[in-house]
Amino acid sequence: MQQNVVWHSHAITRTEREVANQHCAVVVWLTGLSGSGKSTIAGALEQALHHRGVHTYLLDGDNVRHGLCQDLGFSDGDRRENIRRVGEVAGLMMDAGLVVITAFISPYRHDRESVALRLPPGSFIEVFVDTPIEICERRDPKGLYKKARRGEIKQFTGIDLPYEQPLNPDVHLDGKLPLEQLVDRLVGELHQRAII
Ligand code: ADX
Repeated sequence: MQQNVVWHSHAITRTEREVANQHCAVVVWLTGLSGSGKSTIAGALEQALHHRGVHTYLLDGDNVRHGLCQDLGFSDGDRRENIRRVGEVAGLMMDAGLVVITAFISPYRHDRESVALRLPPGSFIEVFVDTPIEICERRDPKGLYKKARRGEIKQFTGIDLPYEQPLNPDVHLDGKLPLEQLVDRLVGELHQRAII
């Protein structure tokens, strides 16, 4: 906690931005194993929303680790800090009136819960991209599972570090289903919640 630093209220509130944008702001948080399809689903969801006139931004693990979190590795502590930073950025973007989509493994329940607790109630939509590790490993788009099996990459989620599945996700996606169906499910969820 920072002493001697005072929080300033903004002249324009999130609600005013939401009214101008004609939709609510929210964080759609995708979690799942590497290779589960998070980035692909997140990208397709963003396109679908953008075409509907929704103001969006996508935060993706691989990209964020090139900049904002380039100093972090894959230890439990570094992942916690990664998710904390991303949560803070997502919160700011939400405050700017955006539908923020995030695609991070975010393997630990406690870290995901901490992000949710920093956001206004109801604005963290947890989406579990449920793809069995056998399928992720078969897909292995970046060849990382092979490297992890050979011991060339340590602390790999699902191999030598755990993935804690959400116990009660807002949306549970079967990662084996066609992309279009998964995107429709998410767009439907945002409609149902009167976000868009
Ligand atoms: S998280 O656990 O901190 O949420 P994040 O989503 O940012 O992870 O980054 C995961 C991406 O980093 C994976 O998609 C993969 O491409 C790459 N990566 C490199 N090393 C590892 C590792 N040891 N465990 C998991 N992902 C790794």
